[in-house]
Amino acid sequence: MKKDNLCDKKTALITGATSGIGAEFAKQLSAMGFSLILTGRNREKLLRLSKKYPGSVTVEADLRKKEDCFRLIEEGKRFSADILINCAGMGVFGKFSETDIKKETDMIDLNVRACHILFKGFLELFESRGKGYILNVGSVAGFLPGPLMSGYYASKSYVLRQTEAVYLELLYNKSPVKVSVLCPGPVQTDFNRNAGITGSFKGITAEECVRHTIEGMKKGRLLIIPALYTKAVALGSKLLPAAVSGSVCYIAQKGKKRITDI
Ligand SMILES: NC(=O)c1ccc[n+]([C@@H]2O[C@H](COP(=O)([O-])OP(=O)(O)OC[C@H]3O[C@@H](n4cnc5c(N)ncnc54)[C@H](OP(=O)(O)O)[C@@H]3O)[C@@H](O)[C@H]2O)c1
Repeated sequence: MKKDNLCDKKTALITGATSGIGAEFAKQLSAMGFSLILTGRNREKLLRLSKKYPGSVTVEADLRKKEDCFRLIEEGKRFSADILINCAGMGVFGKFSETDIKKETDMIDLNVRACHILFKGFLELFESRGKGYILNVGSVAGFLPGPLMSGYYASKSYVLRQTEAVYLELLYNKSPVKVSVLCPGPVQTDFNRNAGITGSFKGITAEECVRHTIEGMKKGRLLIIPALYTKAVALGSKLLPAAVSGSVCYIAQKGKKRITDI
């Protein structure tokens, strides 16, 4: 029988734990008996989480800041994390020539730089301890060119490609550390509202997304894609030229509206 990749782990550090997919990871991993280290920026939500999960540790951190990323790695060491759910992320919607540069650089700092720093910091920590599991939260967006959300799609491509590459490094070096990348399609969370978008396809629930992901992690899967139609999009992106898959994406994105335009 295949070894369960999660059963010998005890403490999960979850970024983006105050909302959506990260909050659902907290719920399901807590129900499985994991200790939790929960992080986000929203102090009130963190306080509520600490009451909901007695014994959990909460860390307020703005992961757009490098120093907060490094502080979080120290907290992971201090509280003996052996799973990292690298989930915090944001999106920016609109034509590249019109989007706000501050929001875009914030997004790059969070989706790319913070994800990279935490991935590396926790990998070093877990390798030194001879065990650990890192889940980077990408998106099916990482497979495609994404007109009207070009920076977001490119940021998720970074997460996908880096995780795939590091997975192979670990495999060929017989590392005890496991890594996976979660690439969901639309999930019912506050993501779109926070990105200022309305009119999106509803998608699966965070509960379904996380349940499927935990099953994938138990099997040590590199690529975890919940929902059949999302798998079809990922496959289609490999079969079609980028101009075609990107044009389909453009048509889908055009149907969305910026909340400020309503
Ligand atoms: N929902 C979807 O359709 C979908 C699809 C594919 C991939 N994803 C990915 O899934 C991940 C989670 O998104 P979600 O859907 O759960 O969205 P969400 O409900 O908006 O949650 C985003 C989380 O990220 C945290 N966050 C945002 N900015 C942060 C910052 N500067 N520093 C630290 N934490 C920050 C937020 O916490 P605070 O507000 O407390 O800081 C929140 O907990 C993201 O990486 C997203 O790209 C989502």
